[in-house]
Amino acid sequence: MEPAFRSLLYDRPDLYDLVFPEPDQTRAEMCGEAFKRYLPLPPASLVDIGCGNGRLVVSLSPSIPECWGVDLVESNIAYARSRGRGGVFHVGDMRTVRLGRTFDVVTCLGNALSYMLADADLEKAITTFATHARPESLLILDLLNARCYLDGDGFRERIEGRIEAPEFTADSVAVHSLDRAARRMRRTRTWRIAGQPDVVDEAEYRLLYPEETRGILEAGGFEVLAMYDNREFRDSDLAGSVTSEPDCAGMRGRKLYVFAMMP
Ligand SMILES: C[S@@+](CC[C@H](N)C(=O)[O-])C[C@H]1O[C@@H](n2cnc3c(N)ncnc32)[C@H](O)[C@@H]1O
Repeated sequence: MEPAFRSLLYDRPDLYDLVFPEPDQTRAEMCGEAFKRYLPLPPASLVDIGCGNGRLVVSLSPSIPECWGVDLVESNIAYARSRGRGGVFHVGDMRTVRLGRTFDVVTCLGNALSYMLADADLEKAITTFATHARPESLLILDLLNARCYLDGDGFRERIEGRIEAPEFTADSVAVHSLDRAARRMRRTRTWRIAGQPDVVDEAEYRLLYPEETRGILEAGGFEVLAMYDNREFRDSDLAGSVTSEPDCAGMRGRKLYVFAMMP
Protein backbone atom coordinates (compact mmCIF):
# COMPACT_ATOMS: atom_id res chain seq x y z
CA MET A 1 0.00 0.00 0.00
CA GLU A 2 1.29 3.49 -0.91
CA PRO A 3 1.98 5.64 2.17
CA ALA A 4 -0.19 8.77 2.52
CA PHE A 5 2.91 10.74 3.49
CA ARG A 6 6.18 11.63 1.80
CA SER A 7 9.55 12.38 3.37
CA LEU A 8 13.05 12.84 2.07
CA LEU A 9 14.17 11.11 5.26
CA TYR A 10 12.34 7.92 4.28
CA ASP A 11 13.66 8.05 0.70
CA ARG A 12 17.15 8.54 2.16
CA PRO A 13 17.00 6.70 5.53
CA ASP A 14 20.71 7.36 6.07
CA LEU A 15 19.80 11.03 6.57
CA TYR A 16 17.33 10.31 9.38
CA ASP A 17 20.07 9.79 11.98
CA LEU A 18 21.82 12.93 10.77
CA VAL A 19 18.72 15.08 11.11
CA PHE A 20 17.60 13.51 14.40
CA PRO A 21 20.83 12.47 16.11
CA GLU A 22 20.54 10.48 19.32
CA PRO A 23 24.05 10.69 20.69
CA ASP A 24 22.90 9.93 24.21
CA GLN A 25 20.67 6.98 23.23
CA THR A 26 17.92 8.38 25.46
CA ARG A 27 15.18 6.28 23.91
CA ALA A 28 17.08 3.03 24.30
CA GLU A 29 17.79 4.11 27.88
CA MET A 30 14.13 4.93 28.45
CA CYS A 31 13.19 1.47 27.16
CA GLY A 32 15.83 -0.13 29.42
CA GLU A 33 14.42 1.70 32.44
CA ALA A 34 10.89 0.61 31.47
CA PHE A 35 11.99 -3.04 31.24
CA LYS A 36 13.33 -2.81 34.81
CA ARG A 37 10.20 -1.10 36.10
CA TYR A 38 7.50 -3.05 34.34
CA LEU A 39 8.81 -6.51 33.36
CA PRO A 40 9.52 -9.39 35.75
CA LEU A 41 12.63 -10.40 33.73
CA PRO A 42 14.79 -8.74 31.06
CA PRO A 43 12.99 -9.16 27.72
CA ALA A 44 14.05 -11.89 25.31
CA SER A 45 12.08 -10.51 22.37
CA LEU A 46 10.89 -7.14 21.07
CA VAL A 47 9.14 -5.86 17.97
CA ASP A 48 9.40 -2.20 16.99
CA ILE A 49 6.40 -1.27 14.82
CA GLY A 50 6.99 1.77 12.60
CA CYS A 51 10.71 1.13 13.10
CA GLY A 52 11.89 3.60 10.46
CA ASN A 53 15.54 2.99 9.58
CA GLY A 54 15.80 0.40 12.36
CA ARG A 55 17.88 2.40 14.78
CA LEU A 56 16.07 1.37 17.97
CA VAL A 57 16.26 -2.29 16.95
CA VAL A 58 19.96 -1.90 16.21
CA SER A 59 20.65 -0.28 19.57
CA LEU A 60 18.64 -2.87 21.54
CA SER A 61 19.78 -5.97 19.60
CA PRO A 62 22.94 -6.52 21.68
CA SER A 63 20.86 -6.96 24.84
CA ILE A 64 17.66 -8.56 23.45
CA PRO A 65 18.18 -11.84 21.58
CA GLU A 66 15.19 -11.51 19.22
CA CYS A 67 14.67 -7.96 18.01
CA TRP A 68 12.32 -7.38 15.07
CA GLY A 69 11.26 -4.25 13.21
CA VAL A 70 8.32 -3.49 10.90
CA ASP A 71 7.79 -0.42 8.74
CA LEU A 72 5.44 0.56 5.93
CA VAL A 73 8.20 2.10 3.81
CA GLU A 74 10.33 -0.37 1.85
CA SER A 75 13.34 1.96 1.65
CA ASN A 76 13.44 2.15 5.46
CA ILE A 77 13.41 -1.63 5.77
CA ALA A 78 16.01 -2.08 3.01
CA TYR A 79 18.27 0.36 4.86
CA ALA A 80 17.63 -1.29 8.26
CA ARG A 81 18.62 -4.68 6.79
CA SER A 82 21.67 -3.22 5.06
CA ARG A 83 23.06 -1.97 8.37
CA GLY A 84 23.93 -5.60 9.14
CA ARG A 85 23.79 -4.95 12.86
CA GLY A 86 21.18 -7.43 13.98
CA GLY A 87 17.42 -7.50 13.87
CA VAL A 88 14.80 -9.13 11.67
CA PHE A 89 13.00 -6.60 9.48
CA HIS A 90 9.70 -6.77 7.62
CA VAL A 91 7.75 -4.38 5.42
CA GLY A 92 4.25 -4.12 6.86
CA ASP A 93 1.38 -1.83 7.73
CA MET A 94 0.74 -1.48 11.46
CA ARG A 95 -2.98 -1.77 10.79
CA THR A 96 -2.75 -5.19 9.21
CA VAL A 97 0.66 -6.81 9.69
CA ARG A 98 0.65 -10.25 11.35
CA LEU A 99 4.03 -11.77 12.14
CA GLY A 100 2.65 -15.06 13.46
CA ARG A 101 4.24 -14.78 16.90
CA THR A 102 4.23 -12.76 20.10
CA PHE A 103 6.95 -10.69 21.82
CA ASP A 104 7.87 -9.70 25.38
CA VAL A 105 7.87 -6.06 24.29
CA VAL A 106 6.03 -4.17 21.55
CA THR A 107 7.22 -0.63 20.81
CA CYS A 108 5.83 2.03 18.48
CA LEU A 109 7.97 5.15 18.84
CA GLY A 110 8.91 8.33 17.02
CA ASN A 111 5.25 9.36 16.52
CA ALA A 112 4.63 6.36 14.27
CA LEU A 113 1.18 5.88 15.85
CA SER A 114 0.37 9.54 15.14
CA TYR A 115 0.19 8.60 11.43
CA MET A 116 -3.08 6.80 12.25
CA LEU A 117 -5.48 9.62 11.45
CA ALA A 118 -8.88 7.97 11.77
CA ASP A 119 -10.25 6.27 14.88
CA ALA A 120 -10.67 3.06 12.88
CA ASP A 121 -6.97 3.10 11.91
CA LEU A 122 -5.94 3.70 15.51
CA GLU A 123 -8.08 0.78 16.64
CA LYS A 124 -6.55 -1.48 13.99
CA ALA A 125 -3.03 -0.52 15.08
CA ILE A 126 -3.85 -1.25 18.73
CA THR A 127 -5.27 -4.62 17.66
CA THR A 128 -1.96 -5.31 15.90
CA PHE A 129 -0.06 -4.47 19.09
CA ALA A 130 -2.37 -6.75 21.10
CA THR A 131 -2.01 -9.59 18.56
CA HIS A 132 1.77 -9.51 19.00
CA ALA A 133 1.59 -9.37 22.80
CA ARG A 134 0.92 -12.11 25.34
CA PRO A 135 0.05 -11.82 29.04
CA GLU A 136 2.61 -9.56 30.76
CA SER A 137 4.01 -8.20 27.48
CA LEU A 138 4.94 -4.53 27.72
CA LEU A 139 3.79 -1.93 25.18
CA ILE A 140 5.76 1.33 24.85
CA LEU A 141 4.41 4.16 22.70
CA ASP A 142 5.22 7.75 22.05
CA LEU A 143 2.85 10.03 20.21
CA LEU A 144 2.05 13.68 19.65
CA ASN A 145 0.35 15.06 22.73
CA ALA A 146 -2.86 16.97 21.93
CA ARG A 147 -2.75 18.63 25.34
CA CYS A 148 0.51 20.32 24.38
CA TYR A 149 -0.44 21.23 20.79
CA LEU A 150 -4.09 22.17 21.22
CA ASP A 151 -4.26 23.48 24.80
CA GLY A 152 -0.63 24.41 25.50
CA ASP A 153 2.20 26.19 23.71
CA GLY A 154 3.35 23.30 21.50
CA PHE A 155 2.12 24.56 18.15
CA ARG A 156 4.46 26.57 15.91
CA GLU A 157 3.25 27.59 12.49
CA ARG A 158 6.72 27.79 10.97
CA ILE A 159 9.92 26.04 12.01
CA GLU A 160 13.20 26.58 10.24
CA GLY A 161 16.20 24.32 10.56
CA ARG A 162 19.63 23.76 9.08
CA ILE A 163 21.63 20.56 8.71
CA GLU A 164 25.30 20.95 8.02
CA ALA A 165 27.35 17.80 7.60
CA PRO A 166 29.93 16.65 5.06
CA GLU A 167 27.44 14.23 3.46
CA PHE A 168 24.39 16.53 3.51
CA THR A 169 23.84 20.26 3.89
CA ALA A 170 20.36 21.72 3.66
CA ASP A 171 17.96 24.28 5.08
CA SER A 172 14.47 23.15 6.01
CA VAL A 173 11.29 25.15 6.40
CA ALA A 174 8.34 23.33 7.96
CA VAL A 175 4.92 24.96 7.80
CA HIS A 176 2.21 23.53 10.07
CA SER A 177 -1.53 23.90 10.22
CA LEU A 178 -3.99 22.61 12.78
CA ASP A 179 -7.41 21.12 12.26
CA ARG A 180 -8.67 21.51 15.82
CA ALA A 181 -11.99 19.78 15.24
CA ALA A 182 -10.34 16.67 13.82
CA ARG A 183 -7.36 17.02 16.19
CA ARG A 184 -4.90 16.75 13.33
CA MET A 185 -1.77 18.64 12.35
CA ARG A 186 -0.53 18.89 8.78
CA ARG A 187 3.10 19.61 7.97
CA THR A 188 4.66 20.66 4.68
CA ARG A 189 8.43 20.70 4.94
CA THR A 190 10.63 22.06 2.17
CA TRP A 191 14.29 21.09 1.96
CA ARG A 192 16.55 23.59 0.21
CA ILE A 193 19.58 21.60 -0.83
CA ALA A 194 22.46 23.39 -2.51
CA GLY A 195 22.66 22.64 -6.22
CA GLN A 196 19.44 20.58 -6.26
CA PRO A 197 15.76 21.28 -6.77
CA ASP A 198 13.78 21.75 -3.54
CA VAL A 199 12.30 18.60 -2.02
CA VAL A 200 8.87 18.85 -0.39
CA ASP A 201 7.71 16.48 2.37
CA GLU A 202 4.07 16.08 3.35
CA ALA A 203 2.70 14.51 6.52
CA GLU A 204 -0.41 14.63 8.63
CA TYR A 205 -0.55 13.59 12.27
CA ARG A 206 -3.31 12.74 14.68
CA LEU A 207 -3.00 14.53 18.02
CA LEU A 208 -4.12 12.40 20.96
CA TYR A 209 -5.07 13.46 24.48
CA PRO A 210 -3.74 11.36 27.37
CA GLU A 211 -7.25 10.27 28.46
CA GLU A 212 -8.18 9.39 24.88
CA THR A 213 -5.00 7.32 24.54
CA ARG A 214 -5.82 5.47 27.75
CA GLY A 215 -9.34 4.78 26.44
CA ILE A 216 -8.24 3.29 23.11
CA LEU A 217 -5.59 1.15 24.78
CA GLU A 218 -8.04 -0.18 27.38
CA ALA A 219 -10.58 -0.89 24.65
CA GLY A 220 -7.85 -2.89 22.91
CA GLY A 221 -7.24 -5.01 26.01
CA PHE A 222 -4.20 -3.21 27.49
CA GLU A 223 -3.80 -1.93 31.03
CA VAL A 224 -2.08 1.47 31.10
CA LEU A 225 0.71 1.44 33.68
CA ALA A 226 1.97 5.00 33.31
CA MET A 227 2.01 8.04 31.03
CA TYR A 228 4.60 10.80 31.02
CA ASP A 229 5.30 13.90 28.96
CA ASN A 230 9.06 13.33 29.32
CA ARG A 231 11.51 10.47 28.91
CA GLU A 232 12.69 10.67 32.51
CA PHE A 233 9.54 9.17 34.10
CA ARG A 234 8.81 12.47 35.88
CA ASP A 235 5.21 12.91 37.04
CA SER A 236 3.51 16.01 35.64
CA ASP A 237 0.15 17.32 34.46
CA LEU A 238 0.97 15.73 31.05
CA ALA A 239 0.73 19.11 29.35
CA GLY A 240 4.23 18.82 27.90
CA SER A 241 6.98 21.32 28.52
CA VAL A 242 8.49 22.83 25.44
CA THR A 243 11.83 23.66 26.96
CA SER A 244 14.22 23.10 24.07
CA GLU A 245 14.45 24.73 20.68
CA PRO A 246 12.46 22.78 18.11
CA ASP A 247 14.36 20.29 15.97
CA CYS A 248 13.63 20.04 12.24
CA ALA A 249 10.30 18.42 13.04
CA GLY A 250 9.52 20.76 15.94
CA MET A 251 8.26 17.94 18.13
CA ARG A 252 10.62 18.03 21.09
CA GLY A 253 8.82 18.34 24.43
CA ARG A 254 5.47 17.75 22.74
CA LYS A 255 5.15 14.04 23.23
CA LEU A 256 3.30 11.60 25.38
CA TYR A 257 5.17 8.45 26.47
CA VAL A 258 2.88 5.57 27.32
CA PHE A 259 3.65 2.27 29.09
CA ALA A 260 0.98 -0.41 29.04
CA MET A 261 0.74 -4.11 29.75
CA MET A 262 -1.33 -6.95 28.38
CA PRO A 263 -2.92 -8.39 31.55
C1 LIG B 1 9.01 9.56 12.45
S1 LIG B 1 9.32 7.93 11.91
C2 LIG B 1 9.92 7.14 13.37
C3 LIG B 1 10.77 5.94 13.06
C4 LIG B 1 11.31 5.19 14.28
N1 LIG B 1 10.24 4.63 15.08
C5 LIG B 1 12.17 6.09 15.11
O1 LIG B 1 11.70 6.56 16.14
O2 LIG B 1 13.33 6.33 14.74
C6 LIG B 1 7.67 7.25 11.75
C7 LIG B 1 7.68 5.91 11.04
O3 LIG B 1 6.36 5.38 11.02
C8 LIG B 1 6.24 4.66 9.81
N2 LIG B 1 4.82 4.43 9.51
C9 LIG B 1 3.88 5.35 9.21
N3 LIG B 1 2.71 4.74 8.96
C10 LIG B 1 2.92 3.41 9.13
C11 LIG B 1 2.09 2.26 9.02
N4 LIG B 1 0.81 2.35 8.65
N5 LIG B 1 2.63 1.05 9.28
C12 LIG B 1 3.94 0.93 9.62
N6 LIG B 1 4.78 1.98 9.72
C13 LIG B 1 4.27 3.21 9.48
C14 LIG B 1 6.93 5.56 8.80
O4 LIG B 1 7.27 4.88 7.62
C15 LIG B 1 8.14 6.01 9.60
O5 LIG B 1 9.24 5.16 9.41
